[in-house]
Amino acid sequence: GLPERVTVYEVGPRDGLQNEPVVVPVEVKAEFVARLAAAGHTVIETTSFVHPKWVPQLADAAELLAAVERVPGVRYPVLVPNERGLERALEHGVTEIAVFASATETFAARNLNRTLASQFEMFEPVVGRALEHGLRVRAYVSMCFGDPWEGPTPVAQVAEVGRRLLDLGCYELSLGDTIGVGTPGHVGALIEAFGGPERLAVHFHDTYGQALANTLAALRAGVTVVDASTGGIGGCPYAESATGNLATEDLVWMLHGLGVETGLDLGALVETSTWLAGRLGRPSPSRVVQALSKA
Ligand code: HMG
Ligand code: MG
Repeated sequence: GLPERVTVYEVGPRDGLQNEPVVVPVEVKAEFVARLAAAGHTVIETTSFVHPKWVPQLADAAELLAAVERVPGVRYPVLVPNERGLERALEHGVTEIAVFASATETFAARNLNRTLASQFEMFEPVVGRALEHGLRVRAYVSMCFGDPWEGPTPVAQVAEVGRRLLDLGCYELSLGDTIGVGTPGHVGALIEAFGGPERLAVHFHDTYGQALANTLAALRAGVTVVDASTGGIGGCPYAESATGNLATEDLVWMLHGLGVETGLDLGALVETSTWLAGRLGRPSPSRVVQALSKA
């Protein structure tokens, strides 16, 4: 069976904009976030407190948070890699963060400048302190299906990293297919390796056109939280070949077609993506945006 309702965890302002070649002005980002809330999103990953030299596109995190008008009932999590990032997030009134680990050695080095083992020395104090401050803490694991340097990622290796993050007290673990190589059978096997869907979310990039099929496999396995980016923008600057996230519009088209509720207004999302495409100077890669903006 399928869930009656799915929570779409929107990552466009963070995962989407972190990988755009142009630096988007802070007012445009604030309007993007406001439009997403108006379209019915209840959780919008807004920005990152990573090292500004590592991701210059999000170096304006503090200014953006000051510019975003919080809508009651909407959560605005931000990415935080380390204690310096947490300090900055706390200074700016953040109430929810996400830490992000790697399932592979090479990506831990490239994305975090750490080893697979030593990345936890960075996260443990962050999660501990964040929980003491009453924050909600989400965790990601990247390269859950494969890694551009190491090939397919062993399921047991992902489960070990993910389990450690859940054991730290993260309320949810998002399984990242950073380079979009996963296929539906692999999704089922991974969820099984965690002993079921409890506290799991999925985060698919659509590089190989598998994101919707993989999402459906995850839903059938009992997952009810799906990450997506409005317009299908996104990618990781530290992963060769990473392209856009699953587009929120493509996801919503499928879910509404299946009779699964999302609370999202598809028309408003498409309008937002068309508007943003104008600001980014390139069309949205989402098939649903393309189809509906011609209609
Ligand atoms: P490092 O160079 O090892 O940092 O980078 P460090 O701890 O050695 O510190 C060096 C200096 O940086 C220090 O300054 C720190 O204060 C400063 P100094 O004392 O030399 O003057 N510093 C900071 N400044 C501001 N904010 C901070 C911060 N941290 C240190 N937070 C670090 C380690 C983790 C910081 C770096 O590797 C980094 O920022 N990485 C982030 C990369 C990133 O954002 N990648 C994209 C997001 S992940 C993703 O997209 C995948 C996902 O979507 C899921 C999926 O698709 O799979 C989530
Ligand atoms: Mg991602």
